[in-house]
Amino acid sequence: MKLVDKPVKAKKGDTASPKAVEEDASNKVSQGRAELIKKFPVRANLENYEQEYATFNWDDAKKEISYFAGGKMNAAYNAVDRHLHDGRRNKVALYSVDVNNKIEKLTFQDIAEQSNKMGNALKKLGAHRGDRVFVFLPRVPELYTTTVAIAKIGAIAGPLFSAFGPDALRDRLIDSEAKIIITNPALKPKLDAIRGQLPDLEYVIVVGGDKEKMGEREFTYEELVSGESDKLECARMDPEDPLYLLYTSGTTGKPKGVVHVHHDIIGHHMTSKWVLDLRDDDTYWCTADPGWVTGTVYGIFGPWSLGASVVSYEGRFDADSWYSLIDRLKVTVWYTAPTALRMLMKAGDDVVYKHSLDSVRHILSVGEPLNPEVVRWGQKVYGLPIHDNWWQTETGMQLIANLPCNAIKPGSMGKPLPGVYAAVVDEDGEEVEPGKLGKLVVRPGWPAMLREVWRNEEKFNEYFKISGWYFSGDNAWKDEDGYFWFVGRADDVINTAGHRVGPFEVESALIEHPSVTEAGVIGKPDKERGEIIKAFIVLGNGVVQTDELLEDIKEFTKRQLAAHAYPREIEVKESLPKTRSGKIMRRLLKAWELGLPTGDTSSLEDD
Ligand code: PRX
Repeated sequence: MKLVDKPVKAKKGDTASPKAVEEDASNKVSQGRAELIKKFPVRANLENYEQEYATFNWDDAKKEISYFAGGKMNAAYNAVDRHLHDGRRNKVALYSVDVNNKIEKLTFQDIAEQSNKMGNALKKLGAHRGDRVFVFLPRVPELYTTTVAIAKIGAIAGPLFSAFGPDALRDRLIDSEAKIIITNPALKPKLDAIRGQLPDLEYVIVVGGDKEKMGEREFTYEELVSGESDKLECARMDPEDPLYLLYTSGTTGKPKGVVHVHHDIIGHHMTSKWVLDLRDDDTYWCTADPGWVTGTVYGIFGPWSLGASVVSYEGRFDADSWYSLIDRLKVTVWYTAPTALRMLMKAGDDVVYKHSLDSVRHILSVGEPLNPEVVRWGQKVYGLPIHDNWWQTETGMQLIANLPCNAIKPGSMGKPLPGVYAAVVDEDGEEVEPGKLGKLVVRPGWPAMLREVWRNEEKFNEYFKISGWYFSGDNAWKDEDGYFWFVGRADDVINTAGHRVGPFEVESALIEHPSVTEAGVIGKPDKERGEIIKAFIVLGNGVVQTDELLEDIKEFTKRQLAAHAYPREIEVKESLPKTRSGKIMRRLLKAWELGLPTGDTSSLEDD
């Protein structure tokens, strides 16, 4: 993906040229839509975009959400407990597929009861409203029931990606002053490694833990919930009370805690209806881990708010297993990511045809640019277009999407949803004309917008510093038809295989290695993963560069941070370019890497 930091007119023939793709879209996609309609003569939940966009307002959506007296609410009540009274009590809420492909089915009643037990147990441990309770689990049923339990008692759920290493955990648990964490025996050693640095952490709960091995203030999940009642009243929350706290990377500093509130559920609900197009008979699979925002919002709250059956798969990616799963569970709606789709494309067409994917009626993708050729390939092998959509941890819900009722322009993220005003602006916040590149911004007012950066007002205010727009940090352009086209990040944030990684975090982990004295990290374009992480490092005095050493540095970073966040490439330098205050100039590192002109580097820049 070309990175452009100045607004320039898109040229014809550019991959992002509307003309080139529109022509393509007209034959490929209309054919796909025709097949789709033939196969499933059901209408999309949102049938008329223009009309809905012109008339919709978020207050109208409140009628789809359950409130308690006095305008109080609880997102978990909406996602789970209300289905005990609307005919879905015995419907499968979760198909949990473990690493051995064993399927466990949990109904909405099961989820309600198990989360009630856990909610009661948490309360007994002293978890109060507003306390941070983190979930550090792989995709097992307890990940879901525990997250719901935390929300039910009004505590703040902190999802953690199970691949995180000790450094990544420490940053998040320290900053949030986490009180309780729920993990399992396989992941616990990563926590044990930093336990002494977490004075606020009171309790550790271990799913499937051995009672004999529990230390001080440690409990097994099973012993905690065993005597608990399966009845619990959901806490009556103010809609603006926090629901979950998810850390995400920026360009400077450690990850920031993005705070979302119970009111978000309105946005989760409406977008799951419009964009995911979920209906009651759907079996829906979101491939994202709930440690990321997609897995929390569209793997738990959104689809359950609509009462859909959700598939969770603990196993690793491989084309055969994924297609088998779709076939076996007759998945109808499938929400995945461009890197996964590119890997599936690489795995070839034969493996697709080995399985029956006839159940699938809607495919979506998010998290990074979706190449037009992947959309075309999907059309060929799945017989369906792939619907790209755009949003972020901070936006809390999809904002721009290719809706089932609109034609797709492959390569475009689609149009803003009803109730969302998105625009492309210049440095001063002025909207630029169609075809011009600029900053992608959104007018505040959608229900799931971040409410706070955890205890960091300055960082929160940075999002809104120009003319009251919410600045996404992405560069984009809009075409004459109102479709948005992603161009790149406006900052140094790296997007590798859909994982958002802050260069600062990787640099910090690198310099913890005894042989590394300086590190600068950038995203390097990569065909499969979108970007890979590349590190430029300076070695300590007398340290000799060897392949073994570089391998060791990679492994070290992987262990400390996470498997997705280590540098796949490392280049050793004598020194790194820095600003006057000593900040590494990633801009120059990127220019080196891409062979771009670096300008005059003899004089150092100010920050
Ligand atoms: O750069 C954009 C990219 O992912 C960023 C948000 O990352 P995160 O907060 O981790 O949330 C990802 C999933 C919602 C964005 O700023 N991104 C997201 N969707 C797209 C995208 N880039 C291109 N096309 C998309 N559809």
